[in-house]
Amino acid sequence: MRELQARGVNIIQLDVGEPDFATPGNVINAAERAMETGFTHYTPSAGIPELREAVAEKLRINNHLDVKKENVVITPGSKQALFYAVMALVDEGDEVIIPTPAWPSYMEMVTLAGGKVKEIPSSYGFQLDIEALKSALSDKTKMIIVNSPCNPTGYVANEKELKAIADIAKEHSIYVLSDEIYERLIYEGDHVSIGSFPGMDELVITVNGFSKAYAMTGWRLGYIAACKTIISAVTKLQQHSASQAASFVQKAGLEALKPETAVKPMVKEFKTRRNYICNELKKMKVFDFRVPAGAFYIFPDVSKTGMNGDKFCDLLLDKGVSTTPGEAFGGFGWNIRISYANSMENLKEAVSRMETVVESLKA
Ligand SMILES: Cc1ncc(COP(=O)(O)O)c(C=O)c1O
Repeated sequence: MRELQARGVNIIQLDVGEPDFATPGNVINAAERAMETGFTHYTPSAGIPELREAVAEKLRINNHLDVKKENVVITPGSKQALFYAVMALVDEGDEVIIPTPAWPSYMEMVTLAGGKVKEIPSSYGFQLDIEALKSALSDKTKMIIVNSPCNPTGYVANEKELKAIADIAKEHSIYVLSDEIYERLIYEGDHVSIGSFPGMDELVITVNGFSKAYAMTGWRLGYIAACKTIISAVTKLQQHSASQAASFVQKAGLEALKPETAVKPMVKEFKTRRNYICNELKKMKVFDFRVPAGAFYIFPDVSKTGMNGDKFCDLLLDKGVSTTPGEAFGGFGWNIRISYANSMENLKEAVSRMETVVESLKA
């Protein structure tokens, strides 16, 4: 895609993993204010106390987690938070269960920590396969990674599925790493934090961040919440690596959490785009999928084109639309990931180009 772009070819990017909106103005102003008033130095490694407190309060009120400021570490992005959790808990030979399709960084982090990934592929519709998860358990299972809403499928796990996983975790004393980065981007149903089930306080590590909810991907700001033992290890990891999230970015995060930050219009716009692109894809009759309830991705099976995801992505790219082959997300070679984090105007043009490709297949 980059090569084609460098040659001046117009590509509509439906491979992107970030909101195309601008960061809300009040958040930008807060960062500017912080810099102008000299808030440009080191902060405590775990983050500034007022942001840790604000995050803890958000987790108590919105997510029903029993956490205090001392249970929270502010990190440079949620990816870093996930990395710390894996580094702190996964040892050589430990097994980590990852329902797939899944964001590839999970697999890489676990492998880097010396752990063994056990993938649990989900079937059509992408519900979590609880029976398969039970069968994958062994005395080496250390952790289960849960990501709802999910990248790449947009699937939003329901309370029943999450409770089943929580019950398994409690019965076998297994950690659950819950990546809730797409929490605010839900169009039907509600977000459930797996840490809200009774008895999960010592077992759940909840990770979230500011990238997707507040269009702040480049700011690098996230957080992790867990019991104090895990938080102590995470703080040490951060202290001796990144040191902290940038000081003025933390002030911006504090502002973002305020109710006046405009999130709802962005969510509404994403829902309109989702409905549009799902309807158009259905009309083309070669994309097999259920309308996803969250995030900003669709993960259709494209086998009706007679091609695998890789080949079909190449064909789309030739016609000026970039998407991501499903293979990247844990062996879903017949799927592709389509992101609708792009303007309505661009989505319309992308749909028109995709129709041309699909029509050419029938000829
Ligand atoms: C599932 C998932 N988790 C975490 C991240 C990382 O987000 P951040 O920008 O907070 O590091 C991403 C980014 O694409 C993601 O898709």
